[in-house]
Amino acid sequence: MFHLGWFVGRGYSVHAWNQPWSGSIGSDWPTGELLIDLARAMDRACFDYLMIEDGSFVTDAHRGSSEWHLRNAATVPKLDPMPLVPLLGQATTHLGIVTTMTTGFYPPYLAARLAITLDHLTRGRAGFNLVTAHNDRTAQNFGLDRHYEHDLRYEMADEWIDVVSRLWESWQPDAIVADHSTGIFADHRKVHPIDFAGRYYKSRGPLNAPPGPQRRPVICQAGGSPAGIAFAAKHADTIVARARGIEGARAYRGEVLARMKELGRDPRSCKILFCVGLVLGETIDEAREKKKRLDRSIAENIEPRLAQVSFLSGIDFSTFDLDAPLPEIHTNASRSLTMLLTHGTGARTLREALSDPSSGGVDFVGTPDSIATEMGETMAAIGGDGFMVTEGLTRRAIGEITDGLVPTLQRRGLVRRRYDHVLFRDNLLEF
Ligand SMILES: Cc1cc2nc3c(=O)[nH]c(=O)nc-3n(C[C@H](O)[C@H](O)[C@H](O)COP(=O)(O)O)c2cc1C
Repeated sequence: MFHLGWFVGRGYSVHAWNQPWSGSIGSDWPTGELLIDLARAMDRACFDYLMIEDGSFVTDAHRGSSEWHLRNAATVPKLDPMPLVPLLGQATTHLGIVTTMTTGFYPPYLAARLAITLDHLTRGRAGFNLVTAHNDRTAQNFGLDRHYEHDLRYEMADEWIDVVSRLWESWQPDAIVADHSTGIFADHRKVHPIDFAGRYYKSRGPLNAPPGPQRRPVICQAGGSPAGIAFAAKHADTIVARARGIEGARAYRGEVLARMKELGRDPRSCKILFCVGLVLGETIDEAREKKKRLDRSIAENIEPRLAQVSFLSGIDFSTFDLDAPLPEIHTNASRSLTMLLTHGTGARTLREALSDPSSGGVDFVGTPDSIATEMGETMAAIGGDGFMVTEGLTRRAIGEITDGLVPTLQRRGLVRRRYDHVLFRDNLLEF
């Protein structure tokens, strides 16, 4: 069996703006109901987790302005996903709920307390996608002139998770007594200061919040650079990876597992989920036709991809000659994703790279039946541990995947039909 997740890559935002099947998203999006519907459908389909992207800046890299992104509701607006977690938790029974938290700008104490609170409110189903934040504009919103250097961010993140973990451990498991006969609620001898003084962070502790059902919420990570992989191998319970095709995914997995072994970690203690692109049809011909249409629309209008790489890199890609050999790119922002979409395509020019029909992950085109077969074979070839849906979010896509594809996977015994555990981590690490 393999695991399933869904990555909401546009965060708590306006999904599929001005595209077919997006309902009245232009006015409804702030209610979060689309995400609640998604969570409910995923819970019914027994997915492992829903993961919501986040970031805290309005990009203005592309053509030196925020116009394109605001006009197209792309990456902005974006509401804070944290308050959405209890609502998603109430709408579901077993689904893991992962929100993105930046190690760069959450003080460790606030992060530790928020994470624990959400773990309580979801009864042990909270997880956090730890990112270092990648853009100077974010850094400027938090009082810096420039963001910290790429690898230094991961060094800081390493210390950050150390402080947060110690705060989570500052209450012994049996500190809460809640004994009516003695009147004692908590045993003060079992709640300890941490007195942490590191290179980048300092915190006295203890946390004023006792651990939630999981004690340590699930840690998710998605960094693809060597520093990102090293961080993930050390701390993550699950990794979301965007790797090209079976070979890319196998190589990525091999690298993470080798790192984990070096660190003395059991490789089974972290589940790697690979991003997939899915094009589903009633017949194979219909799916292929749909894919052709999508490929054509990408090639005919590369502005969205151009804007995407400007967003990820913080570099204005509109200034490059589209038909010259690919430019050398040095970015302090999202390094691995920028390279994946440009040099990682094997293309010669920027136009070729940005017209690449692949999703940048593992792609499937067909009917639920044909895709289920291919997914099973592909997962066997990669070696584990699961797939991450990354579809543009509409209720149609939710239905196609959770009521179309997943039941077919379930009938073949490829994914779970029911949850066996109460806590998110227990379901995640079950197989
Ligand atoms: C599937 C996936 C999801 C990601 N989600 C986020 C996110 O929500 N917020 C963010 O700032 N970065 C996100 N990233 C970017 C990375 O986590 C990372 O911060 C960034 O790429 C820079 O690190 P790297 O060069 O090690 O990849 C995501 C990356 C991937 C592959």
